[in-house]
Amino acid sequence: MRKLLVTGGAGFIGSNFIQYILNRYKQKDITLLFNLDLLTYAGNLENLKAVEKDTRYHFVRGNVCDKILVRRLFVEYDFDTVVHFAAESHVDRSIIEPELFLNTNIIGTQTLLEVAKQHWNLDPNNKYSRQYRSDVRFLQISTDEVYGALDKTGTFTENTPLAPNSPYSASKASADLLVRSYYQTYGMPVNITRCSNNYGPYQFPEKLIPLMIYNALQDKPLPIYGDGMQIRDWLHVQDHCSAIATVLEKGKIGEIYNIGGNNEKANIEIVRLILQQLEKSEDLITYIKDRPGHDRRYAIDNTKIVTELGWKPTYTFKRGIQETIQWYLDNPNWVKQVTSEDY
Ligand SMILES: NC(=O)c1ccc[n+]([C@@H]2O[C@H](COP(=O)([O-])OP(=O)(O)OC[C@H]3O[C@@H](n4cnc5c(N)ncnc54)[C@H](O)[C@@H]3O)[C@@H](O)[C@H]2O)c1
Repeated sequence: MRKLLVTGGAGFIGSNFIQYILNRYKQKDITLLFNLDLLTYAGNLENLKAVEKDTRYHFVRGNVCDKILVRRLFVEYDFDTVVHFAAESHVDRSIIEPELFLNTNIIGTQTLLEVAKQHWNLDPNNKYSRQYRSDVRFLQISTDEVYGALDKTGTFTENTPLAPNSPYSASKASADLLVRSYYQTYGMPVNITRCSNNYGPYQFPEKLIPLMIYNALQDKPLPIYGDGMQIRDWLHVQDHCSAIATVLEKGKIGEIYNIGGNNEKANIEIVRLILQQLEKSEDLITYIKDRPGHDRRYAIDNTKIVTELGWKPTYTFKRGIQETIQWYLDNPNWVKQVTSEDY
């Protein structure tokens, strides 16, 4: 990995990842990191102020579905690695506007795969001789939501059948299947990572944790779906970034890796914790009608990435949530900017 194309690098995880990678690797290891991002409501170049002066970093505003643009970038920069974050990522929005999710998440992924396949000159016969190119890699950033929902027990392994329940997770599962098909059919050297819920700095305040912090700071009601007992397996975004770097360095071609922090928490538990830390009243909690198709519980079995690649999370939830709350307290202008109507 020397010349990276990162898609969706102005979003929450992508921007944390770009900072992580440019800090971690020296010039000789990463010579170029190109960020292709459409700058939708969820993308914000403010997130990348810290790396703007790094000569390895380049940005272009563009759509991952734009084949001509993606092809031009491949010809000009000769990427050897694609880390594909760009997506419409909010389940609630996917219920209102599913088509946008299908376009960005499915067609966008296929566009990148197709251009990479052509540029890397992949020969379908490689698949049969098992001679994959080890100098190029396509990494699909996916989600545990593709596995559907769990009851009170059990965890998702990489072999859990796909059973997505929302237009968002269905579009991500479809993209994962396309990635698999390019591996199977054209011998594309791929990996797929499926991570649990992330939290940390630069997350748009529509997702649970930043929304609750944002509303609590303004003494606004904190809307909780249903009984608030939906369980998610929370991972700090820095731990997600280190897991992705580990897969890029050591991941076996064609493999899927689940990423999670063994950190299950009910939504209501998290909301109470945030209120406690901000010294706000629980009276702000307002229960609202549950989201249709709302998955009850997610839990990741991370054994494969831990035992085979040696990755492990470093953040405790206690430290992670404290730092995250502090980040939102310290960055009111960021929040104001991304939530302003003309942004
Ligand atoms: N947030 C989580 O908890 C989580 C967990 C697991 C996996 N994921 C996956 O990680 C990836 C990143 O998630 P996130 O939370 O950072 O999302 P985000 O919504 O914060 O960021 C998405 C980024 O993609 C860009 N984008 C959207 N459509 C685009 C297009 N057509 N062309 C180019 N860029 C486009 C946006 O401008 C934005 O910068 C997604 O693929 C998501 O499915 C997220």
